[in-house]
Amino acid sequence: MGEPTLDVLVLGDSNVDLIVRAQDPTPAFGQEKLVEDLILTIGGSASIFACQAAKLGLRTALASLLGADEFGDYMLRALAALGVDTRHIARAGQLKTGATISLSTAHDRALLTFPGTIAALEGSRIDPAWFREARHVHVASYFLQPRLAAALPTLLAEARRAGASVSLDTGWDPAERWDGGLPAVLKQVDIFLPNEVEAQRITGLPDVGAALERLAEQVPTVVIKLGAAGALARRGGEVSRAASLSVEVVDTTGAGDSFDAGFVYGFLQGLPLAECLEIAVACGSLSTRGAGGTAAQPTLAEVRAVRGRGE
Ligand SMILES: Nc1ncnc2c1ncn2[C@@H]1O[C@H](COP(=O)(O)OP(=O)(O)OP(=O)(O)O)[C@@H](O)[C@H]1O
Ligand SMILES: [Mg+2]
Repeated sequence: MGEPTLDVLVLGDSNVDLIVRAQDPTPAFGQEKLVEDLILTIGGSASIFACQAAKLGLRTALASLLGADEFGDYMLRALAALGVDTRHIARAGQLKTGATISLSTAHDRALLTFPGTIAALEGSRIDPAWFREARHVHVASYFLQPRLAAALPTLLAEARRAGASVSLDTGWDPAERWDGGLPAVLKQVDIFLPNEVEAQRITGLPDVGAALERLAEQVPTVVIKLGAAGALARRGGEVSRAASLSVEVVDTTGAGDSFDAGFVYGFLQGLPLAECLEIAVACGSLSTRGAGGTAAQPTLAEVRAVRGRGE
């Protein structure tokens, strides 16, 4: 078996994001309202993760499903332009590419999502031979992709047998069931990266410290994202905390995914937990400076320039 030619293979969702920016983007039926900006950009947690990983210099491929439509064409072009290897992205002729409209202000956003191809990704589209190409496999938006989720215990076990490490970010569960076979999947995960509310819902524990402890019984490295408050991590007996950077926030879309990519970068460099977390919060925080998930993702040089600036 040769050396891996990829650092990260990302499994999961890609869709277009249409971001409507206005002081008050609330639509008024029966009227017409002018807005400040409307941006077509890369959406989907797996895609945003892949773009940040590539920007940090990791050799990154995305395995995903797009429709054979204009939005799908756009996604392929935009991902490739940001350095993501798109060889393993399939097109479904009979389905439309997923799309999210984000009505965004500097403080909050409301999302309208058409899932399209997102929920249609089947485990059978993932060729286990791809795992031998990669040092690491990351899975995003677990709860949005029930067909992929069902195949994950087997797929991730194969990835690990092939020598890859594995990370998982469940994202939000729109059905609010917070299980869907997750315990069996977590057995095959090296790094688990939920946000605070997700960690609380998954464990049923309202205290985030207790949720961290509980998850750490199942996964070697657990990282809980705390939004503007930064993040908390545990590996074995070691616990680490990092503050976010204070930045002029434009849009927090995908901050968690950029954070995840920063953490995985540090992990693959073999860095200590505290340093992985510092790089992660730098990526998450800096990514909020622009509209959409990818526009303001930092390079490694930008991350180095702001490291240790957290309060
Ligand atoms: N308002 C903010 N100011 C500064 N940094 C932020 C802010 N919001 C998020 N971040 C950065 O992004 C990281 C991840 O954010 P968050 O906790 O919102 O993840 P998430 O809920 O998974 O996000 P997503 O909406 O992408 O799923 C934080 O740890 C922090 O570093
Ligand atoms: Mg998230």
